[in-house]
Amino acid sequence: MTIQWFPGHMAKARRQVTEKLKLVDIVIELVDARIPLSSRNPMIEEIIGQKPRLVLLNKADMADSTRTKQWISYFEKQGIEALAVNAKDGKGLQEIVQSSKGILKEKFDRMKSRGMRPRAIRAMIVGIPNVGKSTLINRLAKKNIAKTGNTPGVTKAQQWIKVGKELELLDTPGILWPKFEDPQVGYKLALTGAIKDTILNLQDIAVYGLRFLEKYYPERLKDRYGLEEIPEEVVSSFDLIGEKRGCLMAGGEVNYDKTSEVIVRDIRNVQLGPMTFDTIEDTESTTE
Ligand code: G4P
Repeated sequence: MTIQWFPGHMAKARRQVTEKLKLVDIVIELVDARIPLSSRNPMIEEIIGQKPRLVLLNKADMADSTRTKQWISYFEKQGIEALAVNAKDGKGLQEIVQSSKGILKEKFDRMKSRGMRPRAIRAMIVGIPNVGKSTLINRLAKKNIAKTGNTPGVTKAQQWIKVGKELELLDTPGILWPKFEDPQVGYKLALTGAIKDTILNLQDIAVYGLRFLEKYYPERLKDRYGLEEIPEEVVSSFDLIGEKRGCLMAGGEVNYDKTSEVIVRDIRNVQLGPMTFDTIEDTESTTE
């Protein structure tokens, strides 16, 4: 999937999300648990406005669980409820209904006190490409896709998915754009597979990945590539890894492109274990 966001695309995507917002009580914002900030749309607050929101840190199986807990508290400190989930195997998804009910309790209590009939909560999923929106919808849908076009106030053609009795989900997610003008965010999006390698230079992505591993997961780096020590110069790490993995050119010199490919693929495919690239420490040091 190539993502080329131009102002026109962004405006259209935004318009589509804004339109659908009118139909729902709550927005379920999907982020990648490995990059809970970098996988967020930079204008999410502005787009969603005052609409109640539940953040799901998806792909929690691929993220560092200690950091996932820190990120959940980070969101909660901002007054946003967040859950760690795995849309692929369903882990954590059963909590979505309960959390949504909690978030919307006041609104629904108010509706009840005005004599309105109880109804299911209506929700829509939003997130950047590849964050797992379709996987989540399919998982929640099972066989419960229902056309509820005759629900008052609901557009005819809109399909709703029943998740139990208490939640209805729009069947098409709102697609938002990532922000990759900041190179760091771009590298993180590339290392998690959210954007194609071709958007950025592959060697730059690999260097970023290596530096990250050296700083946060040095033992895993050593174990994976059989390094006794981590060299000071990143190019020496490339040489060692390239040699170990047989990424050589005809003359026996290390092929840096191939080595970069190996490093990026290994990180992306969780070959060095689950990890999280956005860290609270870095975020706090850059926002102070
Ligand atoms: P999107 O609609 O937001 O664009 O994302 P989509 O559901 O297509 O998911 C993108 C990729 O992420 C898919 O992998 C999907 O299987 C994977 N994925 C989604 N949720 C999770 C999760 O919680 N854990 C893990 N490990 N993976 C998840 P793919 O390689 O594109 O397809 P496939 O190999 O699953 O067929």
